[in-house]
Amino acid sequence: MTRKIDIFDTTLRDGEQSPGASMTREDKVAIARQLVRLGVDVIEAGFPVSSPGDFESVRSVAEAVGDAAVVCALSRAMEGDIQAAADALAPAARPRIHTGIGVSPVHLQNKLAMSEDDCLDRIRTSVAFARNLCSDVQFYAEDASRADRAFLVRACETAIEAGANIVNITDTTGHALPEEFAALVAYVLEHARGIDQAKLSVHCHNDLGLATALSLAGVSAGATQVECTINGLGERAGNASLEEIVMGIAVHGESLDAHTEINTNEIVRTSRMVASTTGIRVQPNKAIVGANAFAHSSGIHQDGVLKARDTYEIINPETVGAAQTNIVLTARSGRAALAHRLEELGFEFDMEALDAIYDKFLELADRKREVYDEDLESLVGEMGRAAHAIYTLCGLQVSTGFPLTPTVTLTLADEAGEEHTVATTGDGPINAAYAAVNKIIGVENELLEFDIQAATRGTDALGEVTVRIAGPDSRVFTGRGTDPDIIVSSVKAYLDALNRLLVSQRS
Ligand code: KIV
Ligand code: ZN
Repeated sequence: MTRKIDIFDTTLRDGEQSPGASMTREDKVAIARQLVRLGVDVIEAGFPVSSPGDFESVRSVAEAVGDAAVVCALSRAMEGDIQAAADALAPAARPRIHTGIGVSPVHLQNKLAMSEDDCLDRIRTSVAFARNLCSDVQFYAEDASRADRAFLVRACETAIEAGANIVNITDTTGHALPEEFAALVAYVLEHARGIDQAKLSVHCHNDLGLATALSLAGVSAGATQVECTINGLGERAGNASLEEIVMGIAVHGESLDAHTEINTNEIVRTSRMVASTTGIRVQPNKAIVGANAFAHSSGIHQDGVLKARDTYEIINPETVGAAQTNIVLTARSGRAALAHRLEELGFEFDMEALDAIYDKFLELADRKREVYDEDLESLVGEMGRAAHAIYTLCGLQVSTGFPLTPTVTLTLADEAGEEHTVATTGDGPINAAYAAVNKIIGVENELLEFDIQAATRGTDALGEVTVRIAGPDSRVFTGRGTDPDIIVSSVKAYLDALNRLLVSQRS
């Protein structure tokens, strides 16, 4: 039997640190439920001290997950942070506190202004404090790959002595090379006193596009936990991507002496759910989950695959859930068929929510005859966004053409239900509509990105618009909107981003 590797998913914490990937509490609970179906061992649900919203999200995820996975909360090596993590984890059946500190010279001198001895003292007191609150404590050595090796070993020993049962060796800046990182992991395993009583985890970033290679190198050197995110979301260039790590281990299990307990056929569904929730699309050539990951386009390759699949395919698409039948629903499909398909796509609704979504589904099916999985995902996304909106779209009238000046009359309702109507002109209809939104909402922001795509095939496809805006403090918010009318989708997407900005200003 090969070694079991724990999959520690940090989509809801490090993944959310991707600019524009902020998720609501409900988004996080829905993703956490899907992560349970995927079979991850640990869900890092957030950084509770960072905001009341994050605190509540960790609490709600802990309640929703029950004992199906360990729920972990991040904290710096400070009592206030650790206490907040413990409080947020109170409803968790299997809580874990993840606490740590920078251990490289750069972190010690520039960020922490601390001597090595002071850092060790801080590790000792904070891990011991965490251990008093929770029996499962993971210590992270931030920027471990640029640390002095002897000091890293002392930091890990101190954490283990103080009660940590997992030590996390990080490549925080994505700087390491795979052989170098494997050697570092092997060094810690060989020299840190007490490490045989603890688990060694790796946490790698993708700044040089090496996060997966680094994580697998860590596994080959003895790590038994890997931290990763769905679609490789995460700070800057992202984290190691869960789907790549899991399939890397599945394909090379024997040589790595490793296996995971992930339900691989949930991978594509989870990836799509995270992409549609965050608005951060997956590049088509992304390994495992990209639209082209299993597409063979050249004649020679097609011929080869038709003769024997493994000529050009190292993974059967069915293994990762990429080859499911694309069931098409129509206006004649009943509630049960809709509920069944939604469940297969990873969404769970109570009867009341299902009634609401069925009404929306019928409206859509009347407008566009065939409703595909992508349409259903868009519909669910729309309803989720509408549920948390501060401003909602009530009416939009656009007059445009050549050589007309585009003119828009727009009505938005605020939270109190009061309607606001304005009329504006612009260079184009979308520009005019956005000016109208700004006139009503009046919140400072800069439009960074505007992207429009058809959700499915056909001229009646839903137009799916994603926008990214920067708020007054430069934080980035992503908004999404879908509708058969692309000007309506554009307005919905902009409103969604502005609503997220406004919600963040309240928490
Ligand atoms: O990249 C990093 O070092 C981290 C730690 C907080 C684990 O995200
Ligand atoms: Zn990180």
